[in-house]
Amino acid sequence: MNYNEETCPGGDVACPEALRQYFDNGTIDTYERVLSEGKEAVVHIVSKDGPGGRQYYAAKVYKKREERGFRNRADYFVTQNLFQRRQLLAIGKKTRFGKWLEEAVWQSRETVYLRELRAAGADVPALISAGADSFIMEYFGDGQERALKLVEARNEIKDPRGAFMNVMRNVELFLRCDIVHGDLSPYNVLYYRGRVVVIDFPQASDPRRNPNAQALLLRDIRNICAFFAKWWNPDPEAIFADMWARYQMNEM
Ligand SMILES: Nc1ncnc2c1ncn2[C@@H]1O[C@H](COP(=O)(O)OP(=O)(O)O)[C@@H](O)[C@H]1O
Ligand SMILES: [Mg+2]
Repeated sequence: MNYNEETCPGGDVACPEALRQYFDNGTIDTYERVLSEGKEAVVHIVSKDGPGGRQYYAAKVYKKREERGFRNRADYFVTQNLFQRRQLLAIGKKTRFGKWLEEAVWQSRETVYLRELRAAGADVPALISAGADSFIMEYFGDGQERALKLVEARNEIKDPRGAFMNVMRNVELFLRCDIVHGDLSPYNVLYYRGRVVVIDFPQASDPRRNPNAQALLLRDIRNICAFFAKWWNPDPEAIFADMWARYQMNEM
């Protein structure tokens, strides 16, 4: 189904205008359907015909600022220390420059993290194409079935210790790149063909700039440990203390 058609099979959601750019630049040729709708973004399945058959991708489209049920964004920018005082003033006063700056940084965050982490060898989706208000990434699933979230795969995990070690290996790798996920939980880890994949990075932060990052890291580790407590009892405080100490000593 191409961009121009108004509805998609199995639903009444039209292909969003934001995806037009990827039809135009040849990244995709078909809109499939909505995969998931969240507070800040909708994830769609899209595809392109290729030599090896139809290739599926996930397209994450951020909602417009009016539709977004987000916590105070000004606070987010202040804690992240991303801007200089003059820029923060412009954002606070909602000048044209301020609005542009805010939106530009807001929407590019996730792709910046994905690109960097993927290059560092992390288990995150490969970035296929990044646009202004959306991006296309590697899709875990096929035409019929999507990857389960860790929380949904609870009864199917064959090697829980291996899965746990892999999530922790990723958390450590993120930290080595000065990135704390900040919303890590069994809802933002996919389990696909025995592999874990970490997704959903818009709220990630840099511990060198965000003083809350240390607390966020501990919370991330706790969330993952709590999930695996079904099999044994990992000690989140010990894992966090060890990781944080090595990070601070530059020994990662
Ligand atoms: N690359 C992907 N491959 C397969 N499923 C995905 C992918 N990205 C997202 N999803 C699915 O879409 C859901 C929402 O994506 P996510 O990035 O977590 O956005 P949010 O939680 O902000 O709505 C995920 O829980 C997952 O089920
Ligand atoms: Mg999510």
